[in-house]
Amino acid sequence: MKVLVTGGTGFIGSHTVVELLNKNYEVIIVDNYCNSKRNVLHKIYQITGKSPTFYEINICDFNSLEKVFKKEKIDAVIHFAALKSGADSIKDPGLYYTNNIEGTYNILKLMKKYSVKKIIFSSSATVYGDSQNVPIKENETIGNVISPYGMTKYLTELLLENKTKQTNDFKAISLRYFNPIGAHPSGLIGEDSPDNIPNNLILYILKVAKKELPYLKVFGNDYRTPDGSGIRDYIHVVDLAKGHIAALNYLDKMKTNYDVFNLGTGKGHTVIELIKTFEKENDIKIPYQFVERRPGDVEISYADCSKANKLMGWYAEFSMADALRDAWNFAKKTRD
Ligand code: UFG
Repeated sequence: MKVLVTGGTGFIGSHTVVELLNKNYEVIIVDNYCNSKRNVLHKIYQITGKSPTFYEINICDFNSLEKVFKKEKIDAVIHFAALKSGADSIKDPGLYYTNNIEGTYNILKLMKKYSVKKIIFSSSATVYGDSQNVPIKENETIGNVISPYGMTKYLTELLLENKTKQTNDFKAISLRYFNPIGAHPSGLIGEDSPDNIPNNLILYILKVAKKELPYLKVFGNDYRTPDGSGIRDYIHVVDLAKGHIAALNYLDKMKTNYDVFNLGTGKGHTVIELIKTFEKENDIKIPYQFVERRPGDVEISYADCSKANKLMGWYAEFSMADALRDAWNFAKKTRD
């Protein structure tokens, strides 16, 4: 089976490509390296002994993308390629709508033209906004999002759902990720650290661990949680990647044409718990100070994953401690 992976050199994309290759899928990657490094393909080869076919293309470039659909006989698409910073999307919403919505639209048009009937979409728990019902189930209200980035995920879900209603044999699954962390246990691929100051908790902690930043600012000490810091569901990226294989398999079994699944661990951890676990697992002190809450942050977010467990037979297997060890292992290797 030939799978087109858009954004296949990115953080979650590259880990998913590894899992696909390990399961003997034929993989075609389309990526423009806008948030990844060129050496990722070689690392994928080092891990799997296989080289996916690669096209350096921006998914907004319809004509180039069409050449891929024309040349390759694609059976299914896993669509990751998107910009992913909530904060950046507030500064430049147009960029997010163009890239994330127009890009998806190009893929859907080409899927129709070239009779590709299956797609897995990389959505996010951000579609739940500030849901007060935890653990969050898939039937929770969605769309009350806090950023243009979140809106693009919500709109794409709607687009896919509508398309499956219009077209009889077109099937789609949206996967709503909670907080992906960790790296491949080999230490060869992981989440690249930005040159500037990261918004993301783990990337910030890794910079503190590498002594590139002096201390972590913990946003808020007055949330209704055991230590006052926010609660999230931190899922190991390899578990997340495996969720895509489970979804691909489930596409063939599902009775409806559209479905959506949470991918998380089902466990919530505070920021302080995460810091303490990182310190214990990696034997590194992470100095931190509490500061004001970050605007737009939700208080508590963790998943009910029973739907993915029951229907797709998928379970998160790694712990937060495993993920934090793997994240540091990758960061150390990159630094060295
Ligand atoms: N945090 C800090 N200090 C930091 C960075 C983060 O205390 O320097 C805290 C946040 O307040 C939050 C937790 O760490 O409690 C996690 O924050 P992240 O920025 O790492 O992640 P978010 O939960 O804000 O966002 C993540 C993804 C989004 C996705 C969202 C869905 O990054 O893409 O989950 O819930 F939309």
